[in-house]
Amino acid sequence: MAQRDGTIRVRLTINGERRALDVHPAARLLDVLRVQLGLTGTKEGCGEGECGACTVLMDGLPVNSCLVAAFQADGSVVETVESVDPGHLTPLLVHGATQCGACTPGVVMTGEWVNRNRELLERFTLRELMAGNFCRCTGYDGIIEGVEARIASDESP
Ligand code: FES
Ligand code: FES
Repeated sequence: MAQRDGTIRVRLTINGERRALDVHPAARLLDVLRVQLGLTGTKEGCGEGECGACTVLMDGLPVNSCLVAAFQADGSVVETVESVDPGHLTPLLVHGATQCGACTPGVVMTGEWVNRNRELLERFTLRELMAGNFCRCTGYDGIIEGVEARIASDESP
C-alpha cells in the first residue's frame, strides 16, 4: 500500500532475513538489493532483461532482478549470491568459469537453481538451462564445466 511519502511498504525475506522496506514505486528489485540493502554482489549489465547478470532466486526461481518491480517482490523469498556457501564457488573457479566476473553472480544463482532441480537435466541440457546468462569473456565452456562440477560435488559421498 502506498504511504504518505509515496513509498510502498514491502515485506520480504532476503537471504533468510525478514525485512520490511519502504520502496519507491518505480524501484526495481535490483535497486533495492544493491542500493537500499548494499547487496552489491548482484550485478547490473544490460538493465533490460537480456544478460542475466542480475539473476537472483525469487521463491526458488531465477529472475532478472532488473525486470522485477520491488513492490512485486512483496511476500517473496529472495536469495542473492551473498547467501551462497563460498565452497560452492570453488568448482566454478577451478574450471575457469569466471574472468572479469560480471556475469558470475548470475551464473552462480542459475547454477544453484539447476542443482536444486536436477530433474530439469533429464529434459534440458545444462547449456539450455544456462542460456539466460550471457558471458562476454569465457566462451561458456568453463561455465558449463564449472556448474557441472558444482553439481557433481553435491553428489559425491
Ligand atoms: S541486468 Fe538484468 S538481465 Fe541484464
Ligand atoms: S566472466 Fe566476464 S562476462 Fe563472464
